[in-house]
Amino acid sequence: MLIQGKPSTTIWPDPDGEGVFILDQTRLPHVVAPVLLRDLGDAAKAIKDMWVRGAPLIGVTAAYGVALAMRQEAADAFLHRAVEVLRATRPTAVNLNWALARMLAFLGQMPEELRRDAALVMAKKMAADDIACNEAIGEHGLALIRAAREKRGGAPVRILTHCNAGWLATVDWGTATAPIYKAQAAGVDLHVFVDETRPRNQGASLTAFELGQQNVPHTLIVDNAGGHLMQQGEVDLVIVGADRIAANGDACNKIGTYLKALAAKDCGVPFYVAAPVSTFDFSLTEGRLIPIEERAQEEVTYISGAAANGEVVTVLLAPKTTPARNPGFDVTPARLVSGIVTEKGVFAADKEALAALNSAK
Ligand code: MRU
Repeated sequence: MLIQGKPSTTIWPDPDGEGVFILDQTRLPHVVAPVLLRDLGDAAKAIKDMWVRGAPLIGVTAAYGVALAMRQEAADAFLHRAVEVLRATRPTAVNLNWALARMLAFLGQMPEELRRDAALVMAKKMAADDIACNEAIGEHGLALIRAAREKRGGAPVRILTHCNAGWLATVDWGTATAPIYKAQAAGVDLHVFVDETRPRNQGASLTAFELGQQNVPHTLIVDNAGGHLMQQGEVDLVIVGADRIAANGDACNKIGTYLKALAAKDCGVPFYVAAPVSTFDFSLTEGRLIPIEERAQEEVTYISGAAANGEVVTVLLAPKTTPARNPGFDVTPARLVSGIVTEKGVFAADKEALAALNSAK
């Protein structure tokens, strides 16, 4: 996708071989700041402190993290330690476990002296695969947007999305946004309603930023406005991402997604989840088993943004001593999900349909 008109991905190996570059997403949209990760500690910090975030990008960053670790030391003990350090960074997005398991299985069976180069090759392959998966999600999702346009008699299709399941949450394309970018390229008129997504405001700071950079028409709304817009008939389709999907189609995504799904059901608005197969956790029978990340109270009681002079500042919103609760994710039950858009096609959110997806992996 584009930043200031230039094609970019969210993560790329340093051409000089010093490490891996990421964009520090905590500084967007105010500052576009590439950061060089040089070792395992840098990669773990980048994921934990959400310089990178979004399930697919967390997975790919972890894969690069293992590659950086193998430059430090390629012995078995350090490989296992690297996997555990990275696994401990964030609990909900299953792509992290998926990527680490792949790296471990691949590197564990080869001689130590080959691991350094092989780990980098594998991480690059996982990054390329992520791009291909998301582009395929875009093609399958485009069919849903075209169908919505038919219903609208050719008028712009109005899509609501929550959090950032955009290209910034992946290596490129995004999951929920891939169909949007494909539709734009196909000349389908659309308009995106962007939930601000408190407490960290990934919608306001990241989704609005990336849609703006791509010239996709969009409007930022407060989290509580989505239900009202759906009641007013102003939303044709909801598309969100996911951090983990259970075998029965229950989908875990950023906190607040569940309320959007409830409103969509009540208003008869189709509600789609877009995610690669790596976001499915077929070992969990239902969504209530998904670990939900509890984050710092300060994310609720403080807010940050750019001051009039451009400086990025953080200000207190609540009384200093007010306690806050901050679950990072919620689970949307499968019964509220119209379909799951994957790189292998659109699947019903139920056990039988997803079992077919699992066996086709
Ligand atoms: O806490 P975050 O910013 O990592 O949460 C991100 C989300 O919830 C995304 O919607 C999800 O990971 C899908 S990303 C394609």
